[in-house]
Formats: sequence, C-alpha cells, structure tokens
Amino acid sequence: MNNQSDFLSFSLDLAKRVGDLQLSYFGNISSIDRKSTNIDLVTNADIESEKVIISRIKKAYPNHSIISEEAGSIENNSEYTWIIDPLDGTTNFTHNLPIFAVSIALKRQNEIISGVVFNPAADKCFYAEKNKGAFLNDKKIFPTSTSNLSNCLLATGFPYLHDEKYDLSFDIFKEFYDKTRGLRRLGSAALDLCFVAMGRFDGFYEFNLEPWDICAGALIAHEAGALVTDWDGKNFPHSGSRILCANKNIQKEMIDILIQKKYSRFY
Ligand code: IPD
Ligand code: CA
Ligand code: CA
Repeated sequence: MNNQSDFLSFSLDLAKRVGDLQLSYFGNISSIDRKSTNIDLVTNADIESEKVIISRIKKAYPNHSIISEEAGSIENNSEYTWIIDPLDGTTNFTHNLPIFAVSIALKRQNEIISGVVFNPAADKCFYAEKNKGAFLNDKKIFPTSTSNLSNCLLATGFPYLHDEKYDLSFDIFKEFYDKTRGLRRLGSAALDLCFVAMGRFDGFYEFNLEPWDICAGALIAHEAGALVTDWDGKNFPHSGSRILCANKNIQKEMIDILIQKKYSRFY
C-alpha cells in the first residue's frame, strides 16, 4: 500500500515485533494467571507484549494517550489515543491454538484512524487507515456479498462473565444456527472482524467486548466494505458492548434477529 501514514508504518512495525515475541512464547508459557473470573486468563506473553507496545508508543509519541487491556489507561490530554489488545485470543494461546493476534488501533478525537491486527502464527497482517481501504499482507480485501442468510457462515463469541445475558445469548446463537450454514466461535474477536473483512465469514456479532478487542478490527472491516455498527445498526460500536459486523446484504436480517423483543435486556 502506498502513502502509508507514519502512524500506520509505526503500528505495522510494532505489531510484527510483538508477533515475533509471541511466537517465541507460543507452546512455552511460564505463567498463567486469572483475572475477572476463573476462565479469564493472562499469561506472561500478554504482559511482555504489552510492555514492548507501551514503551515503544511512549518513546515515539510521548504526548499520546494509551488504553491497553492489562495496564489500563495512560491519560495525556491528547487528541490521539492508542487502543491496544497486546494478545487477543489468550485462551487459544494458552492451549497452543494458533488463533491469536496483536491488535493496535489509533483514535483521533472520536474516530479510529488506523488499525492493525497481526496473527503471527499464520503470518497474516491485516491493516487499514480511514478512507484508504483494508489490506491483508498488502492485498486489498473485501467482504462477501452473500444475500441469503441460509448460505452464510457467521462468527460470534461468549463473555467470560456467566450472567443472565450470557444465558440469553444462547437463544440468539440458536436462532442464527437455525437460519445459517453455521456459526464459529474462534476465540479472537479481532480476527473474527478481520475474517468478515476478507470474506471468510459473512457476519459477526458479540456483546460485552471491550474497545481493545474491536477498535482495530472494526476499522479494518469497515474499510473493507462491511457494515460495522451497534446491534441496532446505528453507531460505530466503539465500546464493544454490542457489536455487529456484516456484509451489506445480510445486515438488516441480522439486526432483525438481534433486536427482537426478547433480547431487549441487552439494551
Ligand atoms: C477475548 C477474545 C474472545 C472474546 C472474549 C475476549 P482476550 O479477548 O476476543 O474472542 O469472546 O470476550 O475477551 O481475553 O483473549 O484478549
Ligand atoms: Ca481481547
Ligand atoms: Ca487480550
């Protein structure tokens, strides 16, 4: 891709470095801790990846703010905020499944302007800048245009917290399962979004995600041409609390299912 901004070049270089670091830990983790629940894991690879990312951002852009999953927020009163998931797919990583990624997004005021999601185990680097399209290893990517839900493959995920909404989410899962070719639960929201962007999945929905899970992948999917919104089809889903990402032809049908009355407790 020509005309890359310095921000994107910096993010790509950083994601590749961190990806190499993650591969050196892959199959060789020395510590696994638990966070919000017994199944919410963090490994030494998450922590080491985050240290590298934060120290490099601080060095290159000392005035920028940073929101990162494990370290929290570094508020600098800047119009630029880096939104980082040092390792998305930690449970996969812990079980030696190669579906994990480093996710680096940059927000200027209220807009995501650049995003990189790198899956080092498959050497797949997805990236996008606002209004410049989306790329996988330097090739432009596009979502599918399948219009009939019955010919679609979707993706979703489930939160670590098993509360009332979690129970209800299985009703939604069943509804989509009955109406599509199937659903996949890969365990990395960042890659789920990129796989919609490149046309492997026709759509993806999830709730209770966080900004670091989705900001880079959401820009990549949007720039590829997918529709990326809240479950009501309106705003860009910055918070991650209810994200829907779909090709243009099935988005409406997916929204109809997601906003059925019985799911109103998600709002
Ligand atoms: C998780 C993954 C997963 C999603 C979880 C996320 P983590 O991120 O994106 O696909 O279902 O809710 O928390 O913990 O591996 O960074
Ligand atoms: Ca994550
Ligand atoms: Ca993570």
